[in-house]
Amino acid sequence: MSRAFEVVVYDRRSSKGARKVIQLVRDTRYAEFRRRVHQAFDVAKTNKIVVTNTSRQEISDSPSYHDLVEPNVTLYVLNAKDQVLVAPTDERIEYTPHYDTLVKSGIYEYYASEGHNPLPYAFAELIDNALAATADNKGLRNIELLLHFDDVPCVCVLDNGQGMTSRQLNYWAIYRLSKFHQNKERPGALNSSFSKQPVARSLNSDISYFGVGGKQAIFFLGNACRMVTKTRHCSDVHELSISEKEFKRRESEHQSIYESYIRNRQPGDFSHLHKSNSFLQKLVENEKGKEHFTSVIIFGISSETVEYLTENFKSWTNQLAHTYHYYLHGPDGNVTPEKQQAVTRIAKKFKNINITVRMEYGKTVKTLCLRDVDDDLQTRMVRSAKSTFEFKIQFQKSHKVREVEGIIRYHPFEYNQETLPKCEPINNIY
Ligand SMILES: Nc1ncnc2c1ncn2[C@@H]1O[C@H](COP(=O)(O)OP(=O)(O)O)[C@@H](O)[C@H]1O
Ligand SMILES: [Mg+2]
Repeated sequence: MSRAFEVVVYDRRSSKGARKVIQLVRDTRYAEFRRRVHQAFDVAKTNKIVVTNTSRQEISDSPSYHDLVEPNVTLYVLNAKDQVLVAPTDERIEYTPHYDTLVKSGIYEYYASEGHNPLPYAFAELIDNALAATADNKGLRNIELLLHFDDVPCVCVLDNGQGMTSRQLNYWAIYRLSKFHQNKERPGALNSSFSKQPVARSLNSDISYFGVGGKQAIFFLGNACRMVTKTRHCSDVHELSISEKEFKRRESEHQSIYESYIRNRQPGDFSHLHKSNSFLQKLVENEKGKEHFTSVIIFGISSETVEYLTENFKSWTNQLAHTYHYYLHGPDGNVTPEKQQAVTRIAKKFKNINITVRMEYGKTVKTLCLRDVDDDLQTRMVRSAKSTFEFKIQFQKSHKVREVEGIIRYHPFEYNQETLPKCEPINNIY
């Protein structure tokens, strides 16, 4: 079926000329277009009129028609191509951002991480989201990073957090729809349920704000993703796919770029998946019995990224263990085993957060629980300090009591050298 569209035509042969909307379909030919224009303005076929666009390019034959007449274009009917515009006209335009806004958003952001490979930071965005989503979990908070580098390489970040309703999944996809906008302007959006009470070292998982992070990270890691999610209040799973290839297809077919469908289905139903993709099928099968979860599945991972992640497993997992150090070990950090005897109740609470990494390629499988890493920079800082000074400052601002807290560690200069642990350089592939 040929797609219908409209063009707006102003009769500017005289200042009193009308404005008409003419319906066309993609298959309409030049002669038919011409006939409709004549008909719309009641001009006899034999009467000479000139049809142009607003840049005064004439539509006088089939090639110029196919070149210039596109959906919603504004056209003129004139006596002569370069006559005076006898009355003003309004031209409808659209400036929906190009899909590169989304697809290439990560590039600029991660260039800022000069001297470091940005991939761990991209993972961190997705882990941030998972930490926020699991903040209210009663039991374990499980965040799993799954890297599957056989046949079709993909990277998944799975969490057993609260999930998203289909509306929230729609909001997730809107670039720059910040949490503040969601709550104010979009009824039904995720309500921030975070405790207003200050939490030690600000470890409240309230780290997702601006509506950009996850998408930037996804399109930095790959070129397509499938977001699969379920909340405890609904027995169905919601699934949304976004891909650069699909954007390109919509663009070439003049379709709306940011319009799509969420697939609502039963947990475990993989009837929409290609039979050959056993890895994805297994992921979907594993949904069964889960009360709530979110899976971010990223495809189109470049061979450079696969190479970096497989060859530098230790380095980037170390970086993540450093980034999430206090979430993994609690406010005191990864203190030595002797000191751990005395860990506080608060620290024990943080042992609920499991961030695990599993990487499969060829016959190799590497797994790691980030809490087991004990040579990340932060652990070395915590363990090598000769002395520590903890402080907490309270002050009033806008009638509210605010708190700033921190810790100063002493790493003395000993035997002619600094004892401050050094950050190991992370290999850069770009
Ligand atoms: N794993 C997840 N579980 C539940 N909700 C999520 C998850 N990831 C993202 N979201 C929702 O999608 C929104 C947009 O995420 P994101 O693109 O990372 O932007 P930001 O975190 O900067 O707001 C988040 O604010 C959150 O409401
Ligand atoms: Mg985020």
